[in-house]
Amino acid sequence: MSQRYDQFIANDVTSNKSNVTRQMLVKEYKKIGHGAFGTVVQAYLTPDNNKWYGPFAIKKVPAQTEYKSRELEILRIADHPNVVKLEYFFTHVSPTDNKVYQHLAMECLPETLQLEIHRYASNKLELPLKHIKLYTYQIARGMLYLHALGICHRDIKPSNILVDPNTGVLKICDFGSAKKLEQNQPSISYICSRFYRAPELIVGCTQYTTQIDIWGLGCVMGEMLIGKAVFQGQEPLLQLREISKLLGPPDKKFIFFSNPSYDGPLFSKPLFSGSVQARFEKHFGHAGPEGIDLLMKVLVYEPERRPSPRRILAHPFFDDLRRERYFFPRGHTQPKYLPPLFDFSQIEIQVIGDLASQVMPSE
Ligand SMILES: Nc1ncnc2c1ncn2[C@@H]1O[C@H](COP(=O)(O)OP(=O)(O)O)[C@@H](O)[C@H]1O
Ligand SMILES: [Mg+2]
Repeated sequence: MSQRYDQFIANDVTSNKSNVTRQMLVKEYKKIGHGAFGTVVQAYLTPDNNKWYGPFAIKKVPAQTEYKSRELEILRIADHPNVVKLEYFFTHVSPTDNKVYQHLAMECLPETLQLEIHRYASNKLELPLKHIKLYTYQIARGMLYLHALGICHRDIKPSNILVDPNTGVLKICDFGSAKKLEQNQPSISYICSRFYRAPELIVGCTQYTTQIDIWGLGCVMGEMLIGKAVFQGQEPLLQLREISKLLGPPDKKFIFFSNPSYDGPLFSKPLFSGSVQARFEKHFGHAGPEGIDLLMKVLVYEPERRPSPRRILAHPFFDDLRRERYFFPRGHTQPKYLPPLFDFSQIEIQVIGDLASQVMPSE
């Protein structure tokens, strides 16, 4: 056990804030994540063995691979309360395999939304509706900012969303698949984790927009409501079948505009009787009429019909957050103030535009 956590000197530690590069000692003490491309450890940094900075979550990804990651590029410019903050970055040669690793030292949050959802579900409890509103709102606010910069996250799911259940703060993380989308430039369609893939991606659309992230937001909101993934396809093509079970079959026009050469299954026969509204009500009953209304607007086949982040923020589902400024964190019997939700920057105010009166609390 004792040698599992490392201590090493990094020569080129750059502060993302000041851009100053200097040598620092890195002390790792706990592994907190293991993903597709690397590991995440908790660590402290010190320039002089006297002042200690951290704890940080340091994500290590192999540098110089064929796979083009824009993660550092994007994290360097992103500056928003609902996007994880990059504090330092450096490269270091791993003593185990002699390969160069990019190290991204980010602010550290105690949990992921995945863990929080599982915690409630495994105790057969429902996440309080207030928490679902709080978290969904902050995902939408983070997206409003990212999408305003043209950045599409492309891997929205509960394990890529960090939360602090004590303060109610939420931050989007893992920009390993993110990309700045340019108009009329195709992008690969095989992104996003299966359960969270928008229908246009499933049928192979390469001209998708940031609206694929909005689908992901709907899936995450639904998952908070029912304690498990909403659409759990057993294999990639069956993912569309799961979606059809709730939304009804996709129409031909949608398939044609997504990918005219799609030749996979269409699930064109309805897989349920009764209305789509009744399906949503049955599935997501405890969301209340406003929650169901929002979810039905977000989880639609046509990407252009899904609401933009600013429309989501303005939705009456979040009026509670505008009216009552407190919540009960998990395990607390005393109410606590909500984190800042309306401290909009210039760019956010610009995007929100004429919806400001609906988004902002009235006093
Ligand atoms: N800033 C952070 N604070 C706390 N935990 C984090 C942080 N960043 C990542 N993690 C943890 O590490 C896991 C993997 O990180 P992520 O960036 O999603 O990498 P991957 O691309 O490998 O999925 C996350 O699911 C989360 O559990
Ligand atoms: Mg991840």
